[in-house]
Amino acid sequence: MSNRTIYTNISKLYSMEGGIRAGKALEECAIYEDAYMICEDDKIVETGEMKDLQLHDEKIVDLEGKIVIPGLVDAHSHLVFGGDRVNEYTMKIKGASYMDIYHAGGGIHATVRATRKASFDELYDKAEKTVYEFLKCGVTTLEAKSGYGLNKEDELKQLRVVQKLNINTPMDLISTFMPAHALYKDYQSVQEYFDLIISEVLPVVVKENLAEYMDCFLEKGVFDANESRYILEAGKKAGLKIKIHVDEMEDIGGVDVGVDLHATSLEHCMVTSLENMDKMKAAGITAVILPATSFNLGKTYANVPAMKEKGVILALSCDYNPGSCPCSDPLWMARIASRGCHLTPHEVLSMMTINSAKALDRDHLIGSLEKGKQADFVVINATCFDEVIAHLGANPIHSVYKKGIKVC
Ligand code: NIG
Ligand code: FE
Repeated sequence: MSNRTIYTNISKLYSMEGGIRAGKALEECAIYEDAYMICEDDKIVETGEMKDLQLHDEKIVDLEGKIVIPGLVDAHSHLVFGGDRVNEYTMKIKGASYMDIYHAGGGIHATVRATRKASFDELYDKAEKTVYEFLKCGVTTLEAKSGYGLNKEDELKQLRVVQKLNINTPMDLISTFMPAHALYKDYQSVQEYFDLIISEVLPVVVKENLAEYMDCFLEKGVFDANESRYILEAGKKAGLKIKIHVDEMEDIGGVDVGVDLHATSLEHCMVTSLENMDKMKAAGITAVILPATSFNLGKTYANVPAMKEKGVILALSCDYNPGSCPCSDPLWMARIASRGCHLTPHEVLSMMTINSAKALDRDHLIGSLEKGKQADFVVINATCFDEVIAHLGANPIHSVYKKGIKVC
């Protein structure tokens, strides 16, 4: 027999039904006032207004006037790593740039050293805590990239941590193999490193089903467009889908590579040109905007108003990592996004739910609260979502449900 539960007295149910949104439609949250929602097992079977609800002898959870939104989807994180880089904070405040620190052997290189040193269990325990931080803030689906191992053993270690966390925690983790995150000092050349990745690591990733996507840090001074295209093509040929870090500091042709490789998403897009926005729109590629990174690096925000005007599909995510953005709180990221990228709370919500589900190719399963979708939802102690963004206070989340089960 199925497990049927009716959630009643929801003051505002932000259903987000109607599919992915772009342009002016980002404002539309498809809100039901004084609403109910019925779930059976892990699925939503019905939503509607309380006045139309006929109750029989069923399990009821009275939400007493709270609001409900879909479980948040975070499409960009560097979840698993050793150590921290808190020491870089003061350096940055005093004027060192992210790239100064990187080229001096700190930044990603420092995290590679710490990640290699850490055991599987140490990485697992640390990342597990972060998974629960995200869950408590309403995230029910989280992407997780490798890229701090940068050799066979340690890239696989990171990916296997994600695989085990996906089994053992309520979070749906979507794994991304990101060997081209930096060129570590072990290798004489990019070609030598890529040969190792393609001949020895990628086959294991595919065989053990350790990743769904491949990503690359396509940036001046890291991997150029040709190098990125080479490694990403190898990943694509092996069956992985493509996401790319592009235009974070400088535009060196990342969007063209993404368009040619039919990337699912291009991420950061902080300095993307108007012409390249048109290309992304035409190709139907989702731009994953990471405003907490702009905030932390003291950089300009992505030109979201222009992307919106052009109808590019837009998503928002935290970019949780130890360096450019140690942020595991999507509500704070949302507040930064609203101010920094000139987005209303409704636009922010579209970009963190149905549109970020699209950035992971899962908008048919999650990202909205409607019949047939997974019962991933968040109950919030607020009168409306605007209040969640406007009020710079404690976490207002009351409870989080994953596949119909209360997990926080
Ligand atoms: O998305 N830019 C590359 N990767 C991360 C930063 C990783 C790090 O600094 O450790 C980012 O910003
Ligand atoms: Fe990133």
